[in-house]
Order: sequence, then structure tokens, then C-alpha cells
Amino acid sequence: MNYLPILKIEDLCTYFYSRSKQAFIRSVDHVGLQIAKGQTLGLVGESGSGKSVTALSIMGLVRGEPGVISGSIELNTPEGGINLLQGLGLHVRIHRDNGRIMQVAKDADAWEKTADRNLRGIRGKQIAMIFQDPKNAMNPFVAVGRQIAEAVRLNTAVAGHREARARALHWLAQVRIDSPQLRYHNNPHGLSGGMCQRAMIAMALAAEPVVLIADEPTTGLDATIQSHIVDLMGDLKDELALTTLLISHDIDVIRSLADTVAVMYGGTIMQQGPVQAVLGDTGTQHPYTAALLDSIPDQRLIRSKGYLQAIRGDVLDTMNIPAGCRFYPRCNKVDDTIRAQCRDQEPALINIAGGHRVRCWRFAQARPYSGRAAVHAMQRN
Ligand SMILES: Nc1ncnc2c1ncn2[C@@H]1O[C@H](COP(=O)(O)OP(=O)(O)O)[C@@H](O)[C@H]1O
Ligand code: SF4
Ligand SMILES: [Mg+2]
Repeated sequence: MNYLPILKIEDLCTYFYSRSKQAFIRSVDHVGLQIAKGQTLGLVGESGSGKSVTALSIMGLVRGEPGVISGSIELNTPEGGINLLQGLGLHVRIHRDNGRIMQVAKDADAWEKTADRNLRGIRGKQIAMIFQDPKNAMNPFVAVGRQIAEAVRLNTAVAGHREARARALHWLAQVRIDSPQLRYHNNPHGLSGGMCQRAMIAMALAAEPVVLIADEPTTGLDATIQSHIVDLMGDLKDELALTTLLISHDIDVIRSLADTVAVMYGGTIMQQGPVQAVLGDTGTQHPYTAALLDSIPDQRLIRSKGYLQAIRGDVLDTMNIPAGCRFYPRCNKVDDTIRAQCRDQEPALINIAGGHRVRCWRFAQARPYSGRAAVHAMQRN
């Protein structure tokens, strides 16, 4: 197995500034992730935990101020490595006076130009994305086959129309759409939800990407179709050795498809590692992961609604991140030996076994808080 990370994210922070509340929404807060070639990394967590903003940060599609403010997103392809965030920081300014934030500004045009330049030849080509709602992601007026053939011509060495059409039919067959020859001519609205999702997967694959990002690819589909799409993605993973970032609030989906998993809460990673270690019956769960696992029966009931809020208490408001552990207000695993630390000091993400990391005082020795003081100071202003 090859462990070279194809995608390596370090210390990613994507914040939005609320002028009315004069505070940062810390949607993605010091996130680090990496995906090895041919592996699927699952990103799981309740709604609002920062999963989609992580994906948008990778794709250079963050809108709003200040947006991505720090970190690096390295893509390693056979042609070499590139930091997708290169130069973006030049277009974002956070003005402070005596430590107080006076103004947040982003030159959105320059930011987008730089993001577009960094991602030229990468967005849609080296990194392709599939979304929750395929009908919105595809052109409603153009036959799906033609859209896939266009993706082939734009993103691969195939230039001729006849050859591109043949490749498009190949991809429609690869995603097990029935009667590819007929479906080729259907507009997205002429397809059922499940077929349309298959067509969008075919369009993403047609670019022959190095990395595939799938953001809630099964959410909103009915249960039978969901399981067909999960089966399809499992088959494609085996057949094409795809390197995938799979985002889902659905633990069953992550369990079926991912090799490694990162559990996100309140913008940051609470636990990450091999799927078996994080989501298996190992007794080494972070209290938040354990609560997510306990909520699976409820998830099954509410899956069709497309959101999850099955753990007691409110999802963290990232404008008001507490000084201590961000899960403290909802955690049922605090005991008197660690209560003070849980309340006052944010635990670090520590390695407890090969690549298995947990952010929780139950797994860490008590030690003085040292990291992220600058960010906390910034947040309090
Ligand atoms: N453009 C934006 N401006 C302000 N807040 C945003 C913006 N985009 C996302 N957020 C906030 O960031 C948090 C994380 O959102 P998101 O990544 O969509 O969550 P998830 O995908 O895990 O459900 C949410 O609180 C959301 O309201
Ligand atoms: S650090 Fe404390 S509050 Fe946070 S998850 Fe662990 S036990 Fe719960
Ligand atoms: Mg989302």
C-alpha cells in the first residue's frame, strides 16, 4: 500500500466575520487531514460542524469574509506538489487596534482571481467534486451524455467528439446506469434522483481526477437508492483505486466506504485514524464519537430529513468557543479528575496509536495549556 499523501491539509482555518455580532464564526478551526493514494478519508460530524466549508476551502470556493485565513492545502500529483492556498492571505486583512478587531476586509475579486489561478487545471480536473443535489450541479438544458462528453474533452487528452462520446458512454456504463445509450440523451430532469446521482458521478469520473470529493452524496435520496449509491461507490473505489474525501453525517456510509476517518465538531477534528479504530468496537472512542455512534438508531430514523441532531444539547456556536474543550457543555464523560481541565484548557489532538489521534483529556496527561493562545485572544475581541 502506498502512503504518500495525495492531499495534505495543515492548520486550515476558514472563518467568517459577523458584523452584527462583531465576532468570528470559526467554521474550520486548525484542521489537518491527509489522504493517501487510493484511500478514502471519511469526514463525519453533525450538521454545522464545518465539513462542507472544508471541502469549499479545498476547491477555492469559499465566499464571505475573511474566508480562508491560514494553513496549507498541498496536492501532490505525478507532475509535482502545489499549495492550493498560495498567495490567498495577501487579499485578506484583519485590522486590530490594541488587540481589538476593528475591521475585517477581503478583496474578493483578487482573492477569487488568485484561487482561480491556483486551481487552474486542478478544479474539476485533478480534483472533482460530487454534491448532494445532482440536479443543481448539472446543466438542466443539456443532455447528460453531452455534459459528460464535454467533461472528457475539457479535462483529458481526448479531443475528438466521437471519441469523447464513446468515453461518456463508457462512464455511464461504469456507474451502472441502465441503458446508457438511451440515458445519454436525457436531460437531468428526465432522470430519477438515483440515476441523476449516477450521472453526476460519471461526470466527475470523466475528468479522471486525482482526488474525488463527495459531499453528502447519499443525503436526500430514499433509503434503497442510498444503499445502491453506497454499493456503487464501493465498487468504483475497488475498480478505479480512487483517492476520495467522503463527507457525510451518516456513520453507516462512512463505515462502508472509508479507510480512515476524521470526526469533526465545532470546526475542528476531535478524533481521526483508521476506521476500525475510530468507529469500531474498540472502547477508544472520543466522547463525541461515542455519542455519534450511540445516536445511530436515531440517525436511521431521521436520515431522510438530511440532518442530524441526535446528541443532547445544542451544536456548538463557533462564535463562542469556550476556553476549554469545545464539547464540554454536552459531554457526559467528564469526571472530577479532569473536570477543571475540560472546562478551562483545550486538549490537543494527541496520537494514541499509529495514526490514531484523539482530542480529549481522558486520553491525555494533564499539562499546561500552550497552543492556540493567539487565536483565543483574537476570538475574545
Ligand atoms: N459563507 C458563510 N458565512 C457565514 N457562515 C458560514 C458560511 N458558510 C458556512 N457557514 C457556517 O459555518 C458552519 C459550518 O458549516 P458547514 O461546513 O456547511 O457544516 P456541515 O457541512 O458540517 O454541515 C455553520 O455554522 C455555517 O452556518
Ligand atoms: S476533554 Fe473532557 S469535555 Fe472534552 S470530550 Fe474529553 S472528557 Fe469530554
Ligand atoms: Mg455540509
